[in-house]
Amino acid sequence: MKRGLFITLEGPDGSGKSTQIEYLKTYFADKNLPCIFTREPGGTAIGEKLRSIILDKENQEMCDMTETLLYAAARAQHVQERIKPALEAGTIVVCDRFIDSSIAYQGYGRNLGDVVRIINELAISGCMPDVTFLLELSPEIGKSRICEENRDRLEQEKLEFHDKVYAGYQEIAKIYSGRFVEIDAGMQKEEIRDEIYTQIDRILRGE
Ligand code: TYD
Repeated sequence: MKRGLFITLEGPDGSGKSTQIEYLKTYFADKNLPCIFTREPGGTAIGEKLRSIILDKENQEMCDMTETLLYAAARAQHVQERIKPALEAGTIVVCDRFIDSSIAYQGYGRNLGDVVRIINELAISGCMPDVTFLLELSPEIGKSRICEENRDRLEQEKLEFHDKVYAGYQEIAKIYSGRFVEIDAGMQKEEIRDEIYTQIDRILRGE
């Protein structure tokens, strides 16, 4: 059986990934294609527990390497328990954030550099996305879209951190240009949807 397509969505906080994921649910349902939707950190019972530790506003003392390893641990579990089995069964997997979030947030945002990629390549054991949609939005606009009291530990970070994440994403998109589709997240949500639909149509046609 042909391996399923592995799609990830990436972008700064507030870039509108959730809206686009809802559109993708409609897209695959209309086409009657087997598909699962999942997210990081999380996606498994163990991963969701790790998520609550990572994002907890109380955990202000968490050091950057702990944060990196927790995201990677949640990801390793996610790949083994859900993503790989689904892909091997020919199911399409749509994941809200994946390895590129760690490279952007921990590698660039926390200044941990290339060690983050190395740790995460171990965590995912070869299970790389086929296509990654990067919703690009300036950190100023992204932050303004999230109301203050709902911000988690990462979203509470200073604008300087989010600027580094944003610059990181742009660099990663260049390094992995074959896999990345960069989208201006300042466009109307329907325009973004149509752009994503067009790209997936193309991939499904095998182009
Ligand atoms: P979430 O509420 O899922 O944010 P969003 O709706 O913007 O996707 O919280 C995930 C947060 O964790 C988000 O700020 C990005 C951050 N993150 C990392 O720093 N590294 C990672 O590897 C992942 C997956 C997320």
